Amino acid sequence: MRLLLLFLLTFSNIFATSSYEKGKDLYIQKACYSCHGHKIEGISTFPALANRSKGYMTYKLKHFRERKADTQRQEMMIDFAVNLSDEDIDNLTTFFADYVDVEKQEKYDDSYDNYGDGGS
Ligand code: HEC
Repeated sequence: MRLLLLFLLTFSNIFATSSYEKGKDLYIQKACYSCHGHKIEGISTFPALANRSKGYMTYKLKHFRERKADTQRQEMMIDFAVNLSDEDIDNLTTFFADYVDVEKQEKYDDSYDNYGDGGS
C-alpha cells in the first residue's frame, strides 16, 4: 500500500510539472543563461528573450535547429539548438513568453490597496 502511494505521488509529480517549469529546467540545463542571462534579460549584446512572442521565438529556434542563420553572429546559436526536440522548444518558448521575475514581483507588490486615502 505504501509503495503504491509512493508510486502515485512520484508520477503525479511528473505529470504536474508545467511546460513553464520544464522550459525553465531546460534553460538552466542547456546553459542558455550563460549568454541570455539568469533572468532571460539578455547580457550585453546577447538578446533578451523574456516575455517575447512564443511564435517568433519558436520560429527562430527551429530555424537555428535546421542549421540556418541569417547573420554570422546567429551561427553561435546553431550548436545550442540542434538537439532540441519540438517539445523542448515548446517548453522553452512557454517559459520565455510567460516569464515572471519572482524577485521583482515580491519587491514591487502592488496589491496594497490605498482606496479611500485620497480624502485627507
Ligand atoms: C554562446 C552564447 C549563447 C548561448 C549559450 C545561447 N544563445 Fe541564444 N543567441 C545567441 C546569439 C549570439 C543570438 C543571436 C543574436 C542576434 O540575432 O544577433 C541568439 C539568439 C537566440 C534567439 C533568437 C532571439 C532573437 O531576438 O531573434 C533565441 C530564441 C535563443 N537565442 C534561444 C536560446 C536558447 C533556448 C539557448 C539554450 C538552449 C540559447 N539561446 C543559448 C547566443 C547564445
